[in-house]
Parts: sequence; structure tokens; C-alpha cells
Amino acid sequence: MSRHVLILAAGQGTRMRSARPKVLHRLAGLALIEHVLRAAEPLEPAITAVVVGHQAAQVQGGLADHTPLRFVVQSEQLGTGHALLQAAPVFQGCRGTLVVLSGDVPLVRAATLERLVATHERTKAAITVVTAHVARPYGYGRIVRTEGQLSGVVEERDASDTQRQVKEINSGIYAFDLEPLFEALQEIPSAGAVNEIYLPGLVTIYRRRGLPVETIAVPDPNEVRGINSQTELAEVSSIVRQRKNEELMAAGVTIEDPSTTYIDVDVTVGPDTVIHPGVFLEGRTTVGARCELHAGVRIVDSTLEDDVLVNNHCVIQRSHIGGAARVGPFAHLREGTVVGAEAKIGNFVETKKTSLGRGSKAGHLTYLGDASVGDGANVGAGTITCNYDGVNKHRTTIGNNAFIGSGTELVAPVEVGDGAYVGAGSCITEDVPAGALGLARGRQVNKNGWAGRRRDQQD
Ligand code: UD1
Ligand code: MG
Repeated sequence: MSRHVLILAAGQGTRMRSARPKVLHRLAGLALIEHVLRAAEPLEPAITAVVVGHQAAQVQGGLADHTPLRFVVQSEQLGTGHALLQAAPVFQGCRGTLVVLSGDVPLVRAATLERLVATHERTKAAITVVTAHVARPYGYGRIVRTEGQLSGVVEERDASDTQRQVKEINSGIYAFDLEPLFEALQEIPSAGAVNEIYLPGLVTIYRRRGLPVETIAVPDPNEVRGINSQTELAEVSSIVRQRKNEELMAAGVTIEDPSTTYIDVDVTVGPDTVIHPGVFLEGRTTVGARCELHAGVRIVDSTLEDDVLVNNHCVIQRSHIGGAARVGPFAHLREGTVVGAEAKIGNFVETKKTSLGRGSKAGHLTYLGDASVGDGANVGAGTITCNYDGVNKHRTTIGNNAFIGSGTELVAPVEVGDGAYVGAGSCITEDVPAGALGLARGRQVNKNGWAGRRRDQQD
């Protein structure tokens, strides 16, 4: 039996009050619709299509990395049933099961979709609707049953007072037998206060024709939470976050305060790593085992090997930190930073496109940009690589075991050789050979008795 997937994502998402297409709003590091695509992947669909319409180009652009996707354009958003109708050409001649998902229902689990398809195919249903029992059904289509059997779905705005009391809701997720689908869709009348073609109207049509109509209920109603407003986005975010934190804790990670810990879905963390409150791990970040991340740390698209300590209030972006290295507090590691094993980056240090070798140290108040620092080197407090001449960026190279005295400016391009010393307060504009001492600062002059003479003049 072949399987296909269609995601509805053409709606305007008016209730978000946002210029960004609703399905591209971010949820734990992925767009809403990417969560849906991931849940559908294990079904191994022959065709995966997305109905776009409102801000179609943006939505398509946001999914450019996902291949192979078919896009269907619904130029006027005349309802979910109308959206599905637009996809008829894509599934022309296809048989089997079509799973229809909503781009704004991101928490659905792959296991639920497997169960949906299994039930649907076993019962040979024409439509199987995923439902849930929720405490607050406001806003959802309500499931109407006659003698226990699904007989229709009524939308909030069209529901009677009694129907509004129903707590079983339509999730917006369905499996369809492709055979009768597109012909039957044409029969759905425009409905509701806004004259839309409602996809759930198909239930009534199939019941009238005597075709088998099935439902499956999800035990965890959170799974089918739809996002229609910023408030709902925040509520669903906190559910995703909780899921992720629980998954990591189950794998041996210590999270001191899960309620203030924000970890994106693709992040991995090794066992016995301790995460203090207010930590953000974003994008494709990988944290090894036995690391400690102190409060207020934000790490984006970076890799930390085992036993790394990151002290409070550091920002680490697109960087790689070697085993047992120490960072912070208050350090900013920007893109392309590579910190060697057992190296140390201390307070108020900023790095960019810079590598620091094994065991090297830049402990205080330093800027290292476009620099390569060897192993065992010591970069003194207040060192600055002057990497930018106003037009171009240039590299600074510091050799193994070199010692850069405090308050040094290294005017790139420039190289300090292995084992060399640079005297504190130097402005280095020429290479310092290996093993040499480079000194580039004004000579000190002491004028004995000068202070007293000045005071006498002032009196
Ligand atoms: C829909 C269901 C409702 C269900 C709820 C679950 C209908 C009529 N109602 O309501 O029964 O309880 O989802 O979350 O189906 N879309 C299009 N084209 C359109 C209109 C919508 O592609 O013309 C897409 C939207 O982008 C969205 C999805 O369909 O991804 C659902 O649309 P939305 O407007 O959010 O419907 P709900 O009011 O949530
Ligand atoms: Mg919705």
C-alpha cells in the first residue's frame, strides 16, 4: 500500500499578528512545519507535498533544505478542504493512503502517525480522524458522534452551545483513502460565517454515502495542540522544551532547573554534564560528557568535547571547544573559534576565527580575531589583535609556548615565533623571531623630584 503525505500551510495565520508566515515561526530551533515534516518522515511517503499560499515564496524558501518536497499553490485561502483540492494534480493516478497534516500542529509524534495509518489501513476506512480529549476545547472543531460513531465535525464559530461543551476535538490530522477523496471533496459545500470549504465536511459526506469513517484518539492531548496565536506558540514551546529536557535527564544529564533551561531539539548532551539555570543550547550544538555549563550561558551551533567547563554568562557561536577546556565567565566566542584541549579562555575575552592550541591561555580582557595561537602559549591580559586595517582582515600567528605580555597590540599581519616573548605594553608591527624578545614601547623616563617642584609651583 503506498503512502503519501500532504501538509496544509497556506493559511494566513491572522491570529499570530505577525509578518512572518505562521508555519515558519521557530519552535525549539526548527520551524513549526519542520517539526511536522520530521514526524511524517518514518512513514516513508512516496510523495510529500506542502500546500502553500499566503507568503508562499517565503514558506518555500524556508523549506529549501528539505528535498524532495512538492509544493502546491493555493492562491486564495478558501479553507482546508479547498487547500486539499488544489493538491489533486499531484496525486493524480495515485492509490493508497494520504496522510494530511497541519503545518501548525507541530507536536504530533511519529508513533501516532504510524498508528493512524495502521488503523486506517486495517479498517479500510475512507477517512480516519485523529482526535483528542482536551480540557479547553475552545477554538477547535468539535467531534460530533451519533451512537458512538463519528458523524461530523463542527467548528467553534458554527457550534451550538451544547456542541461547545464537547471536549473531544478534531486534531486536523487525517488519513484518507485516495480513491474516493478528490471527487468527494468537490461536494463539500462552502460553510461557516466566512464561506470556506472545511475539510472536516468530508466526514458528513462519507457518512451519507455509507463509507467507513474511523477515529483514533491520542492519549496525550498536547500532541495535537494547534498554534494559532503567540500565546499558543509560547505554551507549545514550553511543552517541547519539557520533552527535550526529560529526554536528556533520562540519559543522565543533570538539569538543575528545567523550567529555565532552553535546549533545541537537535542538541545532544553527554551523561553527567551539569546544566545550571538559564542556559540556552541552540541549533546543532553538541555537548560532551561531564561538562559543566554555569548559569546564563548561550551556546549556538557549537561542539564541546568532554569535561569542558563554561563559567557564567558566556556566548559561544559556531565554535569547537576541546576536552577539559575552560571558558569564561563573560567570554564571547564567535564563529570559527577552536579552543584546544585543556586551554583556557577567561573573563572578558572575545575571539573570532581564532584557534588556541592545547593548554594555551588567554585569561583576561583580550580580543583575538583571525589568529592562530599554538600550544602552551600565554596571551597576557588586555592583548589585542589589530586584525582590521579598515579594508581587509589580516591574520596574527602566535607560536607554541610563546608569551605575550599584558597590554600588547599585535598589528596584523604579524607573527610571533615559537617560544618568543613580547614585552608588556608593546605595539608589535613586525614579526618576532622564534626564541626572541620583542619590545615595542616607549622608554620610561623618571624625573627625580619633579612632583614636589610642581606642587610648590601650584602653591
Ligand atoms: C482546523 C480545523 C479544526 C481543527 C483544527 C486543529 C478546519 C475547517 N478546521 O481549524 O476542526 O480542530 O484545525 O488545529 O479544517 N490552511 C490552508 N489553506 C486554507 C486554510 C488553512 O492551507 O485555505 C492551512 C493552514 O495554514 C493551517 C491548517 O490549514 O496550517 C489549518 O488551518 P487553520 O486556519 O489553522 O484552521 P483551524 O481554525 O486551526
Ligand atoms: Mg490552526
